[in-house]
Order: sequence, then structure tokens, then C-alpha cells
Amino acid sequence: MWEALLNILFGLIGTAAAASLSALVVSTPAAAQVADSITIYNAQHEGLTKEWAEAFTEETGIVVTIRNGSDLEFANQIVQEGANSPADVFLTENSPAMALVDGKALFEPVAKETLEQVPEQFRPANGHWIGVAARSTVFAYDKTKLSGDKLPKSMLDLAKPEWKDRWAASPSGADFQAIVGALLQLKGEEVTAEWLKGMKANFTAYRGNSTAMKAVNAGQTEGALIYHYYYFGDQAKTGENSKNVSLHYFKNQDAGAFVSISGGGILASSKHKEQAQAFLKWLTGKGGQAVLRDGTSFEYAVGKGEASNKALVPLEELQAPKVEPSALNNAEVTDMMTAAGLL
Ligand SMILES: [Fe+2]
Repeated sequence: MWEALLNILFGLIGTAAAASLSALVVSTPAAAQVADSITIYNAQHEGLTKEWAEAFTEETGIVVTIRNGSDLEFANQIVQEGANSPADVFLTENSPAMALVDGKALFEPVAKETLEQVPEQFRPANGHWIGVAARSTVFAYDKTKLSGDKLPKSMLDLAKPEWKDRWAASPSGADFQAIVGALLQLKGEEVTAEWLKGMKANFTAYRGNSTAMKAVNAGQTEGALIYHYYYFGDQAKTGENSKNVSLHYFKNQDAGAFVSISGGGILASSKHKEQAQAFLKWLTGKGGQAVLRDGTSFEYAVGKGEASNKALVPLEELQAPKVEPSALNNAEVTDMMTAAGLL
């Protein structure tokens, strides 16, 4: 293609000029990078994926194009695009969106050597995608009002009458829906439906976890069921949205101790599978996991032997319940939440 084009140009503008044009074309990075590039549909926090992509490109020369969106929005888009999807890699905040895409057989299996970099509890048994980071459910509470035995022992307590008008959440977000998905898997439909009913009676809805935490900090509500990193992220900045906030970890294999896995997967339709595999290998290896340890995302590292940010409560101390990430069913969750009047 280039040769044909250059031949035409040679004829048109003469040998000397074309020689320099030829040198220009050959040395233009854009031409060289066409094969060595990947496109990510990114539903992870934008700052984190940007940091990952920049470090990966610097190390490998593989150029990364990032399109930002949300977990379920992109999962549904991938299903709709099918074989024509321009995405090579899909990154999410939580597992249900990965399960949705995998349910349509749209993932390319992750290379064995990459899977082996991550312990079994942080990836689906079928190896069609892999955990790249993790986050813990917490009850972010107003420490000027609550402490000790005034805190809920279990996430299930928040549906009891004594918690009426005292807590908040962001039910429209994929983060919260993953927590409900875990509850559904752990306790079944009846308990989950009952809990959602209690939630509807007791809680205040906010859009976004940061907003819910701000409301706690401002004394508008006593606590919020969110993920841990919103607190640590704010503390690392000015702390102005979390100065009255402390985190309660439910532990004890409670549904509220659910650790959600952020996923990475390669689309079966990708034309850059080798580069996409290289990216997931890097992401779950030393390079990608170091970004979690040293950066400002405050999400947990999941790579074998890889440390998380030292500000965090160690992952192994969280006493998380055992949840199969590939079986988290977002469609059922949103149906149940809709039926409960939460969506
Ligand atoms: Fe989040």
C-alpha cells in the first residue's frame, strides 16, 4: 500500500523529493505503531488506567488508546458490537460486567502465565478474564456520632428499623450493584429481596460514592455503604470531604466484607491479541501492581507477592466472604433493585 502510494508520488514529484518523503513516511511513529497499539474500553477510574497505560507504553512501546465509560454501559456495548468491536481490552471496576461479556463468549482466554500471576480467589475459574485490582466494601461513618457497638455488626443490620433514615448509598452505580450481587450469591434471593426492602425504607440515595461520603462528612447521614478507596483518596488530598469520617470493616465473612474484583479481559474479536495479552501480563505483574502500591488509586494489588499501598488495612485481614466472581449476575440484581423501588 505504502509502496504503491510512494511509486505514484515518485512519479509526480521526482526522485529527490520523494526520497526525503519516503524517509519521512518510514520514520513517522504513527505508521510504525498501527500494529503495536491497543484500544481499551475503560470502566476503571480514569486516573488509574491513564497511569497504567503510560507506564506500559513507556516499558513496551505499545501505544494505548483509552475510551472511558462505565462497567455495564461498556459491557452492553461490547455485546452489541460483537465481532466489530474496536476494543482489544476491557477493564472494569467490578466483576459483574466481566461476567456479562463472558456469558456471551466474547472473551479470549487469558494466557496461562498471566493467570498464574494472580491467586485463584482473584480470578474466575474459567480463566476467561483476570482480576487486576480489588476493593473492599466498607461502612464509612460519621465518627462524631458513631463508635464501637453503635456500628452495625453486619451489613444486613442496615435493613433493620433502627437504621431508618440513618445511612446512604449510590444504588445506580456498578460498585453498589456488585455488593448486592455478592449478597445474592451468599444469602440467596429471599434474604436479598428482604434486605433491599429494608434498604428502601431506611436509606438515602446519592449519585456516586464520593457524594455519599461527603454527605456523611457533612453530617447529613450517619454512614454510607461504599468502597474503601474513596476515603483514602480524599485523605491523601486535602481530607476536606472525610475529616469527620472513619471506616468500619464488617469482616467475619459478612456480605458487607465483600471484596470486589476489578477485571481485565481480551476481546475474542481483537486484532491485536498479542499486544493485549502483553498488557494483561504487565498489568497483573510487577509493573501494573506497583502502580497500585505507589499511586493514588488506593485500590488493592492482587498479584502474587505484590504489596498494596501501605495506608490500607491488609487484604488478608479483611475476612472477606468467598464469592465466585464469574457468577455475579447483574441482570438479576438490577431486576430485584427495580422491584424494590431502588432504581
Ligand atoms: Fe469506584
